[in-house]
Amino acid sequence: MSTHSIPSRIQLIDVGPRDGLQNEKQPVPAEVKIELVHRLQAAGLREVEVTSYVSPKWVPQMADNHAVMAGITRHSGVRYSVLTPNLKGFEAAVVDRPDEIVVFGAASEAFSQKNINCSIAESIERFAPVVQAALAAGIAVRGAMSCTVGCPYEGDIAPERVAYLAGLMKGIGVQRVDVADTIGVGTPLQVQRAIEAALQHYDLDHVSGHFHDTYGQALPNTLAALQLGVRNFQSSVAGLGGCPYAKGATGNVATEDLVFMLHGMGLDTGIDLDALVDTAAWISTQLGRVPQSHVARALLAKRAV
Ligand code: HMG
Ligand code: MG
Repeated sequence: MSTHSIPSRIQLIDVGPRDGLQNEKQPVPAEVKIELVHRLQAAGLREVEVTSYVSPKWVPQMADNHAVMAGITRHSGVRYSVLTPNLKGFEAAVVDRPDEIVVFGAASEAFSQKNINCSIAESIERFAPVVQAALAAGIAVRGAMSCTVGCPYEGDIAPERVAYLAGLMKGIGVQRVDVADTIGVGTPLQVQRAIEAALQHYDLDHVSGHFHDTYGQALPNTLAALQLGVRNFQSSVAGLGGCPYAKGATGNVATEDLVFMLHGMGLDTGIDLDALVDTAAWISTQLGRVPQSHVARALLAKRAV
């Protein structure tokens, strides 16, 4: 396994309000999404992925994007990001003043077609004017790269496909990229190869790990990424989520599981684990279930004794 010195300060983006909730079948009220963002920032999160400006026919749960963005009381020092797949999405988003927009592409052709209804090459053509407009408006730009190790339609994805996509993203001005294991099938060495492919075009500070936990690999994959020197990660409080276009894939790694591991390794996240567990319990209650993450269950059980 490749190793590098592990960075001491780790920056997490909680993607729960967007990636976590986008796949919920029952409508989640905007007030609940707003309170979730408030609780996350109170727990110490400095980056929150709030919503997406996509077709409400494709993802009905995100149709309340304006209401959610308008309802948030912003904290200085917190970055609020939103997904924008095309100019229509960007034009809708810009009125809500996000700090960062996210264009989202895939290393797999089939997933690109299923998720955003176009080829990889066409997606880059759509993203280019979005990136240009965002940068001109002083809004930061991130690029999500889905299916960087495995695809629900194509199977294994070669690292060369990731390098190709990262190069295209760099070419249109995307400032940083997420190496996403959308369906959570990757194992540590595969994830390291995917990250190394992204590192052909971006430096370590501009590459983040976005690992879904379907097969229980997200923490080992995080450790593998840390060993390469990656210090930005995305996770979802209570492990919520899944992608509507990746059937069977479960949520992101739970933020509290990640924070427990990082703090246990002596790494700083700026996050209050107890407040985060309270948030995991609260949102799970709102969704009518018990918290699913290991750490929320363990700490809530310990508190109950
Ligand atoms: P399309 O059908 O090809 O778009 O969809 P179109 O331009 O032909 O327009 C069709 C209709 O959609 C029109 O409406 C447009 O106005 C409307 P109509 O005339 O039929 O009433 N439309 C829009 N409406 C609102 N906002 C927009 C927008 N654009 C067009 N921005 C499109 C293309 C991208 C819009 C569609 O495929 C879509 O919305 N896809 C959603 C994909 C999505 O949100 N997936 C989940 C997020 S990605 C993810 O979770 C992965 C990630 O977490 C990383 C990982 O884990 O891998 C990021
Ligand atoms: Mg995701």
